[in-house]
Amino acid sequence: MTQPSFTPRVFSGIKPSGGLTLGNYLGAMKRFVEMQESGEYETIYCMVDLHAITVWQDPEELRHNTREMAACFIAAGIDPAKSILFNQSQVAEHAQLGWIFNCVARMGWMGRMTQWKDKAGKNAENASLGLFGYPALMAADILVYHATHVPVGEDQKQHLELTRDIAAKFNNDFKTPFFPITEPVIEGAATRVMSLRDGSKKMSKSDASDMSRINMDDDADTIAKKIRKAKTDPEPLPDNLEGLDDRPEARNLINIYAALADTTPQTVIEEFAGKQFGTFKPALADLAVDRLSPISAEMNRMMLDIPEIDRMLAAGADRAREIATPILEKTYDIVGMVR
Ligand code: TRP
Repeated sequence: MTQPSFTPRVFSGIKPSGGLTLGNYLGAMKRFVEMQESGEYETIYCMVDLHAITVWQDPEELRHNTREMAACFIAAGIDPAKSILFNQSQVAEHAQLGWIFNCVARMGWMGRMTQWKDKAGKNAENASLGLFGYPALMAADILVYHATHVPVGEDQKQHLELTRDIAAKFNNDFKTPFFPITEPVIEGAATRVMSLRDGSKKMSKSDASDMSRINMDDDADTIAKKIRKAKTDPEPLPDNLEGLDDRPEARNLINIYAALADTTPQTVIEEFAGKQFGTFKPALADLAVDRLSPISAEMNRMMLDIPEIDRMLAAGADRAREIATPILEKTYDIVGMVR
């Protein structure tokens, strides 16, 4: 089926289900800002609260985390005049198209998702139905805007393939090339931020050790301490990146430095070749404090005015609906609903 041409449009979502880490910032928000600034696409960013509740969330914490995440987006450079920023539950079209996709996607597809298997674990009988259907709602998030590009981490690649499968099956079932076959924009390994305690694990807000991550609201002393105590090895830094191949912790710190400094790991390794971590770590700590403290200061300032954050999210939701409503209407029409 030949695809019509779709407006270049980026959609991405983050779950507001916990504190924000350096991994969220470097792996997601910073790239979202770059895509906003590129001028190549319309950009839509969403706090996916409906996805968050596929596992239990304390209501007050969920509300707080959603607002804090919005503040962090803005502090990190998302401009509500350039991008659409809102929380998912305010635009009912996500859930409405999600239902249609529940009827398009197959049980077998969902059952093969590695994230489902990991999260449901041995106790799948007791997992929520929402957790099982999670990828169909994610497909709806993307396709209700006819988004053409979706920046996500490597761990979401399989969900995006499923989004493409759902779009293709819908188009095929109803004999109309209505939904675009979305392109994933997967972050390179270089921007994947790993745990400070174990270079083979992703930096995560759910890791038991707070020393494994830098939180976006850590103060300068805490950031410096965490970097000073980050796991490394006794060797000095090599003069090329291949020298870091089996040194994942060292590689991670170099990657973090490069991402924060807006340069390449190659440039960083050339600058610090032959130096010990005793030299590199303080330089990294200074850089991290320098880049992150304005963001956390702005985030904290914004959190003093919750009504303003809520107004901004409501305005974002209004703009999102302007795109989503006609696409959902057309979908209902294609499916055969009387309107
Ligand atoms: N599943 C994504 C994650 O866990 C979050 C998400 C939900 C998302 N809907 C999306 C990401 C749509 C991109 C596009 O990170």
